[in-house]
Order: sequence, then structure tokens, then C-alpha cells
Amino acid sequence: MSKLPPLRLGVNVDHVATLRNARAGTRPDPVRAALAAIAAGADGITAHLREDRRHIRDQDMARLKAEISKPLNFEMAATEDMLKISLATRPHAVCLVPERRAELTTEGGLDVVGQHNALAPYIARLGDAGIRVSLFISAEPRQIEMAARLRAPVIEIHTGGWCDAVVDGRSARAEAEWQRIVHGARLARSAGLEVHAGHGLDYGTAETIAGLPEIVELNIGYYMIGEAIFVGLGETVRMMRAAMDRGRKAIARAGTA
Ligand code: PXP
Repeated sequence: MSKLPPLRLGVNVDHVATLRNARAGTRPDPVRAALAAIAAGADGITAHLREDRRHIRDQDMARLKAEISKPLNFEMAATEDMLKISLATRPHAVCLVPERRAELTTEGGLDVVGQHNALAPYIARLGDAGIRVSLFISAEPRQIEMAARLRAPVIEIHTGGWCDAVVDGRSARAEAEWQRIVHGARLARSAGLEVHAGHGLDYGTAETIAGLPEIVELNIGYYMIGEAIFVGLGETVRMMRAAMDRGRKAIARAGTA
């Protein structure tokens, strides 16, 4: 049996900033949350600088880069403005996401098939600066194949549709979405891509998806920040880590690795 790749946990601190911005002050501080998450075992920190700056702001991103000891994953839309900011910030990774102002969250994956002409030079510019580029896409074969052709080293599979169906108890829909993720992860890995996943994950769905050996990183925010209200952020990180470890161990027991 080959050794299973470890599964990293990236904690998204956007919604600490959402809470701070509700009173237009300085507390709670997303950088403090990032430091607490790292102290409790997070492997990296994710933050999304949206065009409307509704949660994370430019200064948060600069402080995260300066103050955290683990990799920073900078989520952003593929615009010229964001390119300038990310090249100045120099995070470990940039995750390119689609963005519409009116959406509540990142509702769909990036259409890399439709936008490949614009994305190719954009990805190259980030890559030339030594920034690892990840494309946030749905687990559709044609999107995955295009991501590989674009020479992005990483994709992040959008798990939002699956997670919503699980939470709503729509079991047939959840199973169909899950199968799409399973096949997408395999296809992406076989195309040489590093595979991450994220959006809408909770303890249960994180444990399930940790059972896919192709996936090496989960990026999780909203649920964890909500849970932190009840048990604290450190305990939430430890519980999420434990859920992921249970999922990973289940593969080892099943001997599928
Ligand atoms: N990954 C990406 C690319 C995202 O855009 C988001 C949401 O900002 C997440 C992961 C985290 O999603 P959630 O906050 O639902 O856990």
C-alpha cells in the first residue's frame, strides 16, 4: 500500500472580518483569528479579497502575509487590480475564483473553458512571480481538462452544491454531486493536477471528502467561524482536524490507498 498524502486544513478567516465590519471597527481581528487557527493546528490561512471589500480588506491581506507563519492562500477574481495587489503581497498561493457583486458567496466555479484565452497569460504572470496558482472550478471533466491545459498546478473543486444537498437532505442530488467530485478528483490527479476542495464543508462532509486520497487540501471558513461562537476557534480547528483524520484513516483501513 503506498503512503497516503497528508490532508492539509486551510482556515478561511473572511467571516471574522464580516463580523468586524458590522460595527466598522477593528474587532474581531481576522489576523488574530488566523494566528489562533494556526496555533490550534491549521496548515494555512485563506482569505478572499473581494472587489467590494465586503469582508477582507487590503490591509488585512498585507497583515496576514506579514504576521502568519503558515502559507497564505489569497482568493481573488482574475482582474488587473487584483493581479497588482497579489504581486505586491506575494502570498504562497492565489486561488482564482469567479465573482459577481450580487452573490452571497462564491456560487459557482470559474469557467476556465469560456475564459481560457484571458486566463492563460494571467496564470503565467502569477506563476512567473513564484505564486502557486489554483483554479476554483466545479468537478466537470471539461473544466478539469482545460485547467490542466492552462498549466495551473492546482485546482480547488467547488463542493458547495454537494454540501448544500447533504445539509438539505436531498439524498439523490447529494449522491450525484458526490460522484461528480469523486470522478473529478481522479481525473484531475491523473492529469497531473494537485487537487484541493472547498465551500460549504462541515465536520461531516469534511470527514467524507477526506476519504478521497487524491485531495490534499481542504479550505473551510463559514461553518468553522460559526462553530467557534460556541466552542472557540481553537477547539473548532481541533475538531475539524479530527474529522479529517477519521476520514483519512478510513481509506487506510479500506486499503484503497
Ligand atoms: N474555497 C473557496 C475558493 C472559496 O471561495 C470559499 C469561500 O470563500 C471557501 C473555500 C470556503 O467556503 P466556506 O466559507 O463555505 O467554508
